[in-house]
Amino acid sequence: MILALANQKGGVGKTTTAVNLGAGLARKGLSVLVVDADPQGNASTGLGIRGDQRAANLYGVLAEQVPASAAIIETAQPGLSVLPANQDLAAMEVELVDAEQRQYSFKERLSEAVAGFDIVLIDCPPALGLLTLNGLSWADHVLVPLQAEFFALEGLASLLKTLDRVKRGANPALTLLGVVLTMYDRRNNLAQQVEQDVNHHLRGRVFKVQIPRNVRLSEAPSHGVPIFDYDARSLGAQAYEALTGEVMDALGLKGA
Ligand SMILES: Nc1ncnc2c1ncn2[C@@H]1O[C@H](COP(=O)(O)OP(=O)(O)OP(=O)(O)O)[C@@H](O)[C@H]1O
Ligand SMILES: [Mg+2]
Repeated sequence: MILALANQKGGVGKTTTAVNLGAGLARKGLSVLVVDADPQGNASTGLGIRGDQRAANLYGVLAEQVPASAAIIETAQPGLSVLPANQDLAAMEVELVDAEQRQYSFKERLSEAVAGFDIVLIDCPPALGLLTLNGLSWADHVLVPLQAEFFALEGLASLLKTLDRVKRGANPALTLLGVVLTMYDRRNNLAQQVEQDVNHHLRGRVFKVQIPRNVRLSEAPSHGVPIFDYDARSLGAQAYEALTGEVMDALGLKGA
């Protein structure tokens, strides 16, 4: 089961969702791999992987024949592993352009190594470039973190177009699992308006839980731990726990 977290808009909560949904699923007894597909390496950092622990990384796997199994690292959270990234991965956007079957690199290089995991989360970068395209071409499902603000719907429309293009081409089996509203502030009228519009356009594919704006969620990455290990009682932890349940239901996953 491969789930891509994608939105070409930057800073909307893709990585925060990858880290904390990943941790939430691991806490339910599932074995989870987060593939850090962003040269920023934020998911790796948020999961406590230092720069010197990333000698084997996604770039090496894709470009230098490093076996994926050699790059996967267990995090401090039982059941949660990460395939880390660093800025080397930025070169992939360029190098993949010339590669034959360029959008299938993730699938070809990673499929075997991930067979033992119950679920793989791909943290995509903020662009609809080749790294995201690789993620979408490999994934079974896509989950879209969406910040409820003015330009969100335009961004969502172009993302949905891309998903359609991928479905008609590289990956007919891809499904939109759902949209999750992030950094949500229910006192904000515009946020409520965006929520209504998204619900209207994507009936039934918007997760019930909204992730609130919560400072504990923004602090946790600097400690290299998911929210559950940083402040388990925070509203952010409660929201990601609820999202974990909804995602498991939507995917038909049972905890151990
Ligand atoms: N619910 C939240 N409450 C408060 N801060 C948040 C929340 N979600 C994310 N943040 C913060 O907002 C910033 C952007 O979040 P995040 O890195 O998850 O977004 P992203 O979509 O992965 O960004 P990028 O597109 O750069 O990869 C980070 O500093 C993060 O800590
Ligand atoms: Mg990110």
